[in-house]
Parts: sequence; structure tokens; C-alpha cells
Amino acid sequence: MKPIYLTGIKPTGTPHIGNYFGAIKQAIELSKNSDYQNLYFIADYHALNSLKGKEEMQRYFKELACTWLACGLDPEKVLFYRQSQVPQTTELCWVLNNVTSKGLMNRAHAYKAMVEANVNLGKDVDDGVNMGLYNYPILMASDILLFNTKFVPVGADQKQHVEMARDIAKAFNKKYGYTLVVPSEVIEEKTATILGLDGRKMSKSYGNQVPLFCDEMALKKLIMSIKTDSSLPTEPKSTDCTLFDYFKLFGTEAEVENMKQRFAEGISWAEAKTKLFEVANNYLKPMREKYNYYMEHFEEVIAILEKGEEKARAIAKETMERVKQAIGVV
Ligand code: ADP
Ligand code: TRP
Repeated sequence: MKPIYLTGIKPTGTPHIGNYFGAIKQAIELSKNSDYQNLYFIADYHALNSLKGKEEMQRYFKELACTWLACGLDPEKVLFYRQSQVPQTTELCWVLNNVTSKGLMNRAHAYKAMVEANVNLGKDVDDGVNMGLYNYPILMASDILLFNTKFVPVGADQKQHVEMARDIAKAFNKKYGYTLVVPSEVIEEKTATILGLDGRKMSKSYGNQVPLFCDEMALKKLIMSIKTDSSLPTEPKSTDCTLFDYFKLFGTEAEVENMKQRFAEGISWAEAKTKLFEVANNYLKPMREKYNYYMEHFEEVIAILEKGEEKARAIAKETMERVKQAIGVV
């Protein structure tokens, strides 16, 4: 069997260029290597914590599913599915709860950050903390361990969660004998943090994002709003700025070289922004067209997911049978 690469993204907002260059692009590249089997899923149960309700779930799930396909996920090569449609995930989660110490969950970054914020505000330590947040790493361990995952490509912020999945797998194997594959994280060190329009990390929490598939006019408007310094049109400009960083994401090597020279000679910000819009739009246009197609033919996306889910459940069923035998319930 080929080693499994597995990763998930939560449907918690409209996908932005930070998500694309920080996660989706590499995942698609990885899936082209036929030495591995890739499993990519939509972590909808993980999103429950951050969403206001049903409408947001439906909207962001649809946008994320269409985004993966528009960005080039090939369902013939990648097993593509929704976490919620693989019920063995929550079944395994319960079992794993029993080999996971509370102390380990107390150390999880997201929970610790909430506790610290509460302490600083003089509130009860667990104010606003629900069990979904507290047990988040155990559900993530289930996602990973259910599919005999060897490698988990994630951003640096998720490293601790994969380490916890590894600890949980080892604890299970120690108690019940070797049953679960012990996973490792694959951290993409190369991927710089993509900055938002205001120069801070691009994130939907800051409202500074460039949606990956907004229409041309909206894209132009956002690019025109990128913060720049007050140098005069003819003055040489530093390439150490968000505008040039974006140019490097979207431009070809030759285009970037050319722009570097124009910066050194003195290009007006207005012209630089227009040029950036052109390269960004050229880059995004073919993917945007595919995205719009899938948004309008969403039944095709559901059919793709359902096919993936059927295969995913077959693997999950096998793991759960092994787990049930190991713990002695069958
Ligand atoms: P957000 O910060 O907008 O809430 P998520 O936490 O949902 O985004 O991130 C989904 C994926 O996109 C993760 O793998 C994360 O590492 C990546 N990602 C998000 N924002 C950025 C960014 N500004 N630069 C690089 N990668 C990012
Ligand atoms: N927790 C991840 C995030 O916030 C998403 C996720 C859920 C995940 N389950 C996973 C990532 C399993 C990798 C493997 O980005």
C-alpha cells in the first residue's frame, strides 16, 4: 500500500489567497506524486465551533469544496470527502477519548489561549469554552488515525495537533497492542505567511483578505486599496512591501524581474497596482472560471464528494473493525 498523505481544511470563511498560497497549492502539487495516496477532506465538524449557524456552514462548505476542485484537485487521484459523512470519525473519537489524558488537552494552544485571555480579563478560566474546542485535538487525531495516515502536511500552527495525534496513537498501541499507524507532520517551511491588505497576516479574523475568487472588479478595487508609502511617482521604491510580495506570488520570473527594475527606476504606485492587477487576474482567471462553473453546477461537486465518501467509509470501516477487536468489544 502507498503511504497516506492526509490533510483537512475547515469551512470557516470564504477562501482567500493566503489559504491558496499557504495550503491548497502545495497540497495539489503533492497529489501529483503517484508514490503516495492523498486524502483531502473538508473538516466540517471542526468548523462547528467557529460558525454562527446553518447558513454559514452551507455557504462556506460550498465555497471550499468548489475551491479545491477549481484549484486542480483531481478526484481520480485524491480521495476527497466531507468529515461529517464518515461517521467512523466520531466513533473512533470516543474510543480515543479514553486513551487521552485531560492534561494533554489542557496544553493545547487554542484552549490555552482562551484560558489566558479569560484570566487576563478576570473571568472564569473556562468562560466561553465548549467541549468541541476542548476536544478538538482528539477529533483531529481521529481524522488522521482512521485512515492509517503516515504524513500530515499542515501549516506550522497545526504542528502541535499532529504531535498530539501521534501521542494518542502511541497511547492506544501501548494499551491494546499495535493497531494504529503513528503519523508525522510535514511542515511546509518554504511557505511564507501571506500578508493581508493592511500588512498584517492575511486572515479572515482581521478582515484584510483578498478572496481567491472575487470578480475582476472587486479584485481591482482590493488591489488598489493596498497600503503603500508616500513616495512620489518618480522616486525609486523599495521592494520590501506588500504590493511587491503579491507580485512575486502571481508573476512569472521575468515579470518579477522587470517589476524589480521598474521599482528601482521609480514607478508610480498607481501603475504598479495596475500591473499587479493584470498579473493576478491572469493567474486567477482560469481557476475563477472553474470555480464559477462548480458553484453553478454544485450537484456535480456533491456527486464527486459522495464517490470519495463511499471509498473513505470503506477504509474507515476496516480501521474501526481493527480498533473494536483490539479493545475487545467484538
Ligand atoms: P484564516 O486565518 O483566514 O482563518 P484558516 O485558519 O482557516 O485561515 O487556514 C486554512 C489554511 O490556510 C491553513 O492551512 C493555514 O495555514 C493557511 N493559511 C491561512 N492564512 C494564511 C496566510 N496568511 N498565509 C499562509 N497560509 C495561510
Ligand atoms: N485543524 C486543522 C486547521 O485548523 C484542520 C484539520 C482538521 C486537519 N482535521 C485535520 C488538518 C486533520 C490535518 C489533518 O487547519
